[in-house]
Amino acid sequence: MKGLILSGGHGTRLRPITHTSAKQLVPIVNKPILFYGIEALKEAGIYDIGIIVGDTKDEIKKAVGDGSQWEVKITYIEQEKPLGLAHAVLTAEKFIGDSPFIMYLGDNVIKGGVKEFVQEFKRQTPTAQILLVKVPNPSQFGVAELEKDRVIRLVEKPKNPKSDLALVGVYLFDSNIFRAAKAIDYSQRGELEITDAIQWLVDQNLNVKSHVIKGWWKDTGKLEDLLEANRMMSDALETKIEGKVDEKSSIEFKVVIGKGAVVENSIVRGPAIIGENVTIQNAYIGPFTSISNGCKIVESEIEHSIVLEGSTISKIGHRISDSLIGKNVEILGEQRRIKNHQFMVGDNSKIELI
Ligand code: TTP
Repeated sequence: MKGLILSGGHGTRLRPITHTSAKQLVPIVNKPILFYGIEALKEAGIYDIGIIVGDTKDEIKKAVGDGSQWEVKITYIEQEKPLGLAHAVLTAEKFIGDSPFIMYLGDNVIKGGVKEFVQEFKRQTPTAQILLVKVPNPSQFGVAELEKDRVIRLVEKPKNPKSDLALVGVYLFDSNIFRAAKAIDYSQRGELEITDAIQWLVDQNLNVKSHVIKGWWKDTGKLEDLLEANRMMSDALETKIEGKVDEKSSIEFKVVIGKGAVVENSIVRGPAIIGENVTIQNAYIGPFTSISNGCKIVESEIEHSIVLEGSTISKIGHRISDSLIGKNVEILGEQRRIKNHQFMVGDNSKIELI
């Protein structure tokens, strides 16, 4: 069984970050999203992995290399243009050959991995197996209609959804998918859609099965979802302090502080991760925050945010929250940091802070 991770695409929903970088390399808890996919495949016993790359191929190749850091073999497959998920499948036809394979969208994160799903596919050998999750807002997703666990219809963003089961970015196929991808036409948005290819398989009466996942899954294509993924994955952190924390600082709950980092006169309230060689001075780092290597946070407050490598945030008077800050960014203010107030106030008191 082979693996195919899709790491090309436009990334329009994450601009401006994706003007200069691959969205699949944005870190969640200081680890590129794409690495979660590679690890999930390896854990499911898949060692021969192709990665579809587009304009950001150099950056992805540099980060992932030949796969030896995970003891897997990585083959890069260049997709000339991001013409859809089924187009990406066709681009990989030579690499896949007649092997069954798992296709994993490189910007997706699934807590609990894909092992169970792969084992089920190997046992039952359907033509295709899709992963579904119950969602409260199905009209924003590709939705599947089922008869037991057999898929009978897939509808992209339906106005009146017939089920609340949305497609997750993981699919298992045998080589019939190549016939399907060749048989379908480009959609109105100009892409070869994987939902159309799977529907073609269904229409040929081939066996398309589904697996409803219970755990948590996220497509991190948008800022809110990326921050939510960071929040979910932060929960698994265990405290580990390798940098220096002075006695005026307080480290609360689950916090990781990397080598060479310095924390002075600051509060770090986890779950949070501070990378290597980061400086935190007179600052507050709140829950669900991930600060990458080489950043400086000085006289500022930040929470529920992701800051990429080499950025500086200094003397910002207001708390920064729900933010994604790119690499080597400078956010510089002049205001003195708002001091923290701590109260234990009795009944009927009145306090005015001016
Ligand atoms: P999407 O998030 O659906 O598409 P996109 O990357 O173009 O993003 P946006 O909608 O914000 O413009 O893609 C899912 C994954 O598949 C993502 O990792 C990119 C990858 N992909 C390809 O490799 N080739 C493609 O042709 C497409 C459409 C996506």
